[in-house]
Amino acid sequence: MKNKWWKSAVIYQIYPRSFQDTNGDGIGDIPGILSRLDYLENLGINAIWLSPVYESPNDDNGYDISDYRKIGAEYGTMADMDLLIKEARQRGIRVIMDLVINHTSDRHPWFQSAKKSVTSPYHDYYVWRKEPNGLESNFGGSAWTYVPEVNQYYLHLHSKKQPDLNWQNPKMRQAIYDMMNFWLEKGIGGFRLDVIDLIGKQPEQSITKNGPLLHDLLQEMYQKTFGHYDVVTVGETWGATPKIAQLYSKEERKELSMVFQFEHINLDKQNGKRKWDLKDLDPQELHRTFSKWQIELGGCGWNSLFWNNHDLPRIISRWGDDQEYRTISGKMLAIYLHFMQGTPYIYQGEEIGMINYPVKSIDEVDDIESQRMYAERIKKGYSKEELIQSINSKGRDNARHPMQWNNHKNGGFTEGTPWLPVGNTEEINVEAALAAQDSLFYTYQKLIELRKELPVIVYGKYQVIETEEPNVLAYLRSLKKQKILVVVNFSDQKTTFPIGKYRVKQVLIQNYKKKITNNLLPYEAFSALIY
Ligand code: GLC
Ligand code: CA
Repeated sequence: MKNKWWKSAVIYQIYPRSFQDTNGDGIGDIPGILSRLDYLENLGINAIWLSPVYESPNDDNGYDISDYRKIGAEYGTMADMDLLIKEARQRGIRVIMDLVINHTSDRHPWFQSAKKSVTSPYHDYYVWRKEPNGLESNFGGSAWTYVPEVNQYYLHLHSKKQPDLNWQNPKMRQAIYDMMNFWLEKGIGGFRLDVIDLIGKQPEQSITKNGPLLHDLLQEMYQKTFGHYDVVTVGETWGATPKIAQLYSKEERKELSMVFQFEHINLDKQNGKRKWDLKDLDPQELHRTFSKWQIELGGCGWNSLFWNNHDLPRIISRWGDDQEYRTISGKMLAIYLHFMQGTPYIYQGEEIGMINYPVKSIDEVDDIESQRMYAERIKKGYSKEELIQSINSKGRDNARHPMQWNNHKNGGFTEGTPWLPVGNTEEINVEAALAAQDSLFYTYQKLIELRKELPVIVYGKYQVIETEEPNVLAYLRSLKKQKILVVVNFSDQKTTFPIGKYRVKQVLIQNYKKKITNNLLPYEAFSALIY
């Protein structure tokens, strides 16, 4: 396995709209990120994944781009962006751009021209049909919208303001590659490729994910763009299995560095249903899923490790405890994940234990996906109460409320009116986390440090440990003589683990100040070097 900078890196995701506002318009901006780089350097992360800051009408908060070579006015200017890349680099932090190339905004000049006439040179940059077929949008409803000027329907696998690009058109592809090289030339650290598993689609056959053209397209992209740079690439692939992830991330195939797979994330939805259909989590099932990915990508591919992003609810509220054991369960979740093989991602606020933001009615919801689900299901007769409950458990706004920097007005996020309200900053904020030695922040800092210090965390072999107790999840990592044991109690109940079977050399990290014994406290977690 080749050594690469991104294999020992930890990546921090910034959702710029909610990170730090500097001009009082209530929207986070690039100067805001610049002002927080020292904080990120202190945390120890090596790269930022920056959610989209391009020009966009924000139908889907920037995931609908109208100009790939311009910065959205609310975020700043290209000069700010260039400065961010430079200033971050001086602190050993690379900037990974979020790239949305499955679709553009309907305001993109390509689409504006494409929808006017079938003879437009851009018409074929998008996907058109005379009649719609049954394809559905990921946000609900038909994936086809009629345009009278051309008497055709265009495809949009998301909102109708996000028309899908036609990846079968070589001219369109070249235009995208040129744009990607424009960014690579600026010295960025790589790309996060939004819903990349959709670009190989064959709409005629109703194939969207993992289409037959997908891997050829990615190999071409590699050759024409990032293959020439020392960068990281991570694809968002909702439907990936380990076999599919190998295709993307095996080094010799020259496609991507890794993908975001979501198998572990979907475990609390009812089988075969949309993410809104909730069920309880089974920790054993979670452990089996992680172990499967660890083993199947070990040596032939690379894992991404994450609990959170801007599309998912806060992990402490979801699978930990956001009340009494907020910090303890947050540490448990971090310890469980950060000793695995792969590249860990931390979503803004995760390192201080930010939690979900429950709403009482749909009027408080900004997220287009939640709104569409609500409208669709109200028509089908679901009750308001159960829909709000789903949104509070799984809705995307949970992670999008502003970053909590201190306990002053609006958590220090803005002097103006925040675009989404700020959560409870009394207890949860960066200032408090930095001041308390035993805060979650320092657990994350320590986990990042350990990954730098101990090659076994990056390159070691993974081995699952079977336990008698259903809530106890344990594994080993080993490289030559170095062996690490990781044990977590994934519940608020006391339980046991037979630690006597192992000879502990040195405890690396733990979430209670106590001796390690056979008895585990609620959400107790530790990792130790063993003989
Ligand atoms: C990805 C993004 C999500 C967006 C969608 C459409 O899933 O993470 O935020 O809505 O793609 O671009
Ligand atoms: Ca602003």
